[in-house]
Amino acid sequence: MTSYKIWDPLVRVFHWSLVAGFTANALLIDDDSKLHEWIGYAVLALVGVRILWGIVGPKSARFSSFLPGREAVLDQVSDIATRRRRTHLGHTPLGALMIVNLLVTILAIGATGHLMTTSAFWGVEWVEEAHEALVVWAEISIAAHIAAVLLESWRTGVNLPRAMLTGKKQVPDDINLVK
Ligand code: HEM
Ligand code: HEM
Repeated sequence: MTSYKIWDPLVRVFHWSLVAGFTANALLIDDDSKLHEWIGYAVLALVGVRILWGIVGPKSARFSSFLPGREAVLDQVSDIATRRRRTHLGHTPLGALMIVNLLVTILAIGATGHLMTTSAFWGVEWVEEAHEALVVWAEISIAAHIAAVLLESWRTGVNLPRAMLTGKKQVPDDINLVK
């Protein structure tokens, strides 16, 4: 095993705070409360900070280092289809597409949530329906995100959830590594 330091503290704190905030608002907190709005704004702020960090942060956090081209995505699909054991030091190409989907969806949830509190859009049905539909889309995406993380961890032997906790990827020496 070789250990690679990959996720800086901001990325890790962002990830687990986002998990907590999103889960609280989607499943636990009364959605008709002020607390729901404050947690929603906090989640929006987290995503805002992460987007800035994606521009000015260290290499592995930067969008320019992990947003994939078509070829990288097709390579990963072919790795999975042909059971080729290969792993990526940073986000995998498919993982990166999911990250963009989640960040954009969460921003849109926050925007529609905020609209519902304005006098111009208060009680407007399509805004409420959009907020609700976007939350359902986020939940489907998160289920796929978690399944993919578990599948990639099993397929490659790299414990990805642990890396998101400790910041370090422990990569088996017999695997092909894309840096
Ligand atoms: C509300 C639920 C969740 C949301 C919204 C979410 C969102 C995200 C986002 C935005 C990233 C990108 C991180 C960054 O670069 O800043 C990410 C990465 C990651 N997430 Fe989650 N996540 C959720 C739940 C989970 C759970 C439960 C696990 C553990 C099983 C997990 C494991 C990971 C891992 C391992 C990565 C890094 C993937 C890689 O190595 O490419 N996530 N997640
Ligand atoms: C993490 C972000 C958020 C999540 C996961 C979330 C989730 C939800 C859910 C599941 C509902 C119930 C939909 C239904 O079935 O009727 C809801 C309703 C609502 N949300 Fe959010 N929300 C978020 C952010 C926000 C923000 C930022 C605001 C406003 C500042 C907001 C304001 C509202 C309002 C006003 C309702 C309707 C409450 C009612 O009258 O019943 N949400 N939200």
